[in-house]
Amino acid sequence: MNNFVFYSPTEFVFGKNTESRTGELIRKYDAYKVMIVYGGGSVVRSGLLQRVEAALQAEGVEYIELGGIQPNPTDPKVYEGIDLARRERVDFMLAVGGGSVIDTAKAIAAGVVYDGDFWDFYAGKAKVQKALKVGVVLTIPAAGSEGSGNTVITKVDGLQKLSLRAPEVLRPVFAVMNPELTYTLPPYQTACGIADMMVHIMERYFTNTQGVEISDRLCEGTLTAIIKEAYKVKQNPEDYDTRANIMWCGTIAHNGTCGVGCEEDWASHFLEHEVSALYGVTHGAGLAVIVPAWMTFMATHNPKKIAQFAHRVFAVPESDDLEEMALTGVSRLKHFFRYIGLPVTFGELGIEHPDIDLLVKKLHEHKGELVGNYVKLNKEYSKEIFELACK
Ligand code: NZQ
Ligand code: ZN
Repeated sequence: MNNFVFYSPTEFVFGKNTESRTGELIRKYDAYKVMIVYGGGSVVRSGLLQRVEAALQAEGVEYIELGGIQPNPTDPKVYEGIDLARRERVDFMLAVGGGSVIDTAKAIAAGVVYDGDFWDFYAGKAKVQKALKVGVVLTIPAAGSEGSGNTVITKVDGLQKLSLRAPEVLRPVFAVMNPELTYTLPPYQTACGIADMMVHIMERYFTNTQGVEISDRLCEGTLTAIIKEAYKVKQNPEDYDTRANIMWCGTIAHNGTCGVGCEEDWASHFLEHEVSALYGVTHGAGLAVIVPAWMTFMATHNPKKIAQFAHRVFAVPESDDLEEMALTGVSRLKHFFRYIGLPVTFGELGIEHPDIDLLVKKLHEHKGELVGNYVKLNKEYSKEIFELACK
């Protein structure tokens, strides 16, 4: 097991009606003027935005709003938010929504107190030293941004979807998580969220680091549980405990717990980010296409952990032929993704002829000559994985 620092100070307030505590939580973090950030309207239609506003009013917290954040959020909304926050002297960001809303709130939080262009942080030209505090009312379990120090923004000019990691300053101070808020999620969004949280675990699990039994078992146990809950939520989308388990899984998948002591991979995410930057697909659906292809490639290049996954998560019988075990595991994973309504090839994702050369070029421009760790991907390897994702 490698040395590690685990610092995950977000206060999670979980359960029914917890959004009514948002005002009280914001007060605790000494906020005076809050910017509420939200998406394309689901929180207006469900009445959640109104309930959050009422909770702030009850505590005498002043607020302004920035709505209209789209999935795969882009830089113009961040610039708009930074200008607005400076004009209105905002000192706290409250994201009411999912990963796209939270990531935009984090970008604004860092940009407001920075003299230069906020994109410097994403382009790796500057480090985030300080930021406004961020709180979250979560409406979709998926990205895990409510407990992560990451944010992902797409720059429209140049179609660059880049992630920034700054856990010391950008991890939310609190996250309100009411599973009932997720009853209104369309089945496809629920499934995309499940794929995303599974892959957050797998990016940590597929490691060459030895002696990480606890992390391995945490990952396998959480994956097994989420697969079980995924079948249940398809049958009964308004079962509280099912939604609650899925919601909490989304958080622990990405707040660092599952990967302690391991060298993590993340190549599948970087491959997918190029796909969603170029074609605007939902992140979780893109992952459902990329990850089986990545695993198929690994079945021949480094099958050990893929075979272990196949056996312990998808009950593939043990054998000496690790490659065969790994490939059977991939086929069971694909079957599961299809069952919950996800695509597993580019064609099923609606991209008949992906521009693979461009995807490879952008990937290595953004992430360097070698990508990932489980097997480091050069351009030839990443091309092979994109090609496998067509089959
Ligand atoms: O915009 P509204 O109208 O709110 O609708 C949203 C949106 O269309 C809808 N939705 C959310 N909650 C709902 C709901 N619809 C009905 N009922 C509800 N309760 O769902 C759609 C998707 O929302 P979005 O915020 O885009 O989803 P998600 O949480 O999957 O976030 C995706 C973004 O997060 C990034 C992804 O790349 C993508 O840009 N990621 C962020 C990470 C991080 N910060 O740590 C890590 C991830 O790997 C990921 O890359
Ligand atoms: Zn993800």
